[in-house]
Amino acid sequence: MAGLKEVGGYKLGNLIIEGKTKQVFDIPSIPGHCILLSKDRITAGDGVKAHDLAGKSIISNKTTCKVFEILNQVGVRTSFVKSVSDNAFLSKKCEMIPIEWVTRRLATGSFLKRHPGVKEGYRFSPPKHETFFKDDANHDPQWSEEQIISAEFKVNGVVIGKHEVDVMTKTSILVFEVLEKVWQTRDCALIDMKIEFGVDTSGEILVADVIDSDSWRLWPSGDKRLMVDKQVYRNLSTVTDKDLDVVKRNFEWVADQLDHLIPPNKHLVVIVMGSTADKEHCNKIKKYCEDLGLNTEIRVSSAHKTTGYTLDIISYYEGLNIPIIFIAVAGRSNGLGPVISGNTDYPVINCPPGPKEELAKDIWSSLNVPSGLGCGTVLYPETAALFAAQSIAINNYIVWGKLRLKRLGFFKSLPKSDEEIRSSNQ
Ligand SMILES: Nc1ncnc2c1ncn2[C@@H]1O[C@H](COP(=O)(O)OP(=O)(O)OP(=O)(O)O)[C@@H](O)[C@H]1O
Ligand SMILES: [Mg+2]
Repeated sequence: MAGLKEVGGYKLGNLIIEGKTKQVFDIPSIPGHCILLSKDRITAGDGVKAHDLAGKSIISNKTTCKVFEILNQVGVRTSFVKSVSDNAFLSKKCEMIPIEWVTRRLATGSFLKRHPGVKEGYRFSPPKHETFFKDDANHDPQWSEEQIISAEFKVNGVVIGKHEVDVMTKTSILVFEVLEKVWQTRDCALIDMKIEFGVDTSGEILVADVIDSDSWRLWPSGDKRLMVDKQVYRNLSTVTDKDLDVVKRNFEWVADQLDHLIPPNKHLVVIVMGSTADKEHCNKIKKYCEDLGLNTEIRVSSAHKTTGYTLDIISYYEGLNIPIIFIAVAGRSNGLGPVISGNTDYPVINCPPGPKEELAKDIWSSLNVPSGLGCGTVLYPETAALFAAQSIAINNYIVWGKLRLKRLGFFKSLPKSDEEIRSSNQ
């Protein structure tokens, strides 16, 4: 790769850093960004074991790009921008935080050595979180949260304190849980994984570096004997060409699986209003739904005045044969939702539009429903959207991830507001 001047149409600037498995280049045309170019090199044991492996760079790049595309789609803040060639991607240029953030679902590997007596396969709920200081010479020692805070890392102007560590810990677990669900669609168990964070030139903490077959343990059908991750390479005492071929084929299999994930976004939230007078309320629901990654349509039909048309609408959506959630918006006698609910087996959420002072009366017809009906009633557009999203999220890792991220958002923002209030009181 010596003398390389251009990758994927991007003119390369200085080589910022070269590690064991990739090179990082400046791109003069896009300040604050860099190109991460993978190498055909596999290493383990802090670089003690190392081999050339032709084709590995392409497989690693493909895996990383696919994983980061999913994380970006969920809305996780990452450094990844886009794939630019078969062995390189465009990333935000970061100063890296020298910590590996490890998340585990099952106990295996080094965890067992550090915790004698724990049986392999012990299941962590919530996932177990650990941090290691990146220091090859000292074999990446485990560090506590207190050690990280005490190190007072200053990265691109950001001091890594307790709040930053908490946010990265929660983000690591979120990333693990999203990818665990992603892999579940291919009947693979994500056992553990490590990620790294960096701070970009604007001072934002981002999930950075790469996430590939070097980053996790992955057991098809949850069976350790079928492992397809770098552990296969780590476990080799002598390494023959045939062994390397097996490792490469495993990595290839993983990258191919990511191409065949069950697409998560086939669903529809149908907001039915009894009258166009409720359009504004419905638009609010739609906006909240879309922010959560839901596909949404708005329809108008009255259960009282156009009953047949309401039934036709239900039949149409049932005929699509995808998960459907109905949200019924009707003022005064709030019978629209219960009528829909009595004629479909999909969930129905009633969300009457008000006015507020009338709501206490209006909701009764959607609360005190005839036997045999199972709809729910909520009062706020956001609540209706969240309820719909939670129902879709049961089977959709993107929507599930967006919900989890929303909760992480409270955790990020509320302590900041608390601090501001506190300092303004003084
Ligand atoms: N977005 C980014 N901006 C700047 N540097 C990055 C970015 N992503 C990764 N890096 C850094 O690129 C370097 C090269 O990566 P590589 O994984 O090959 O290093 P390594 O030899 O494995 O060392 P390390 O143990 O630090 O990972 C690493 O120091 C990594 O932290
Ligand atoms: Mg590395």
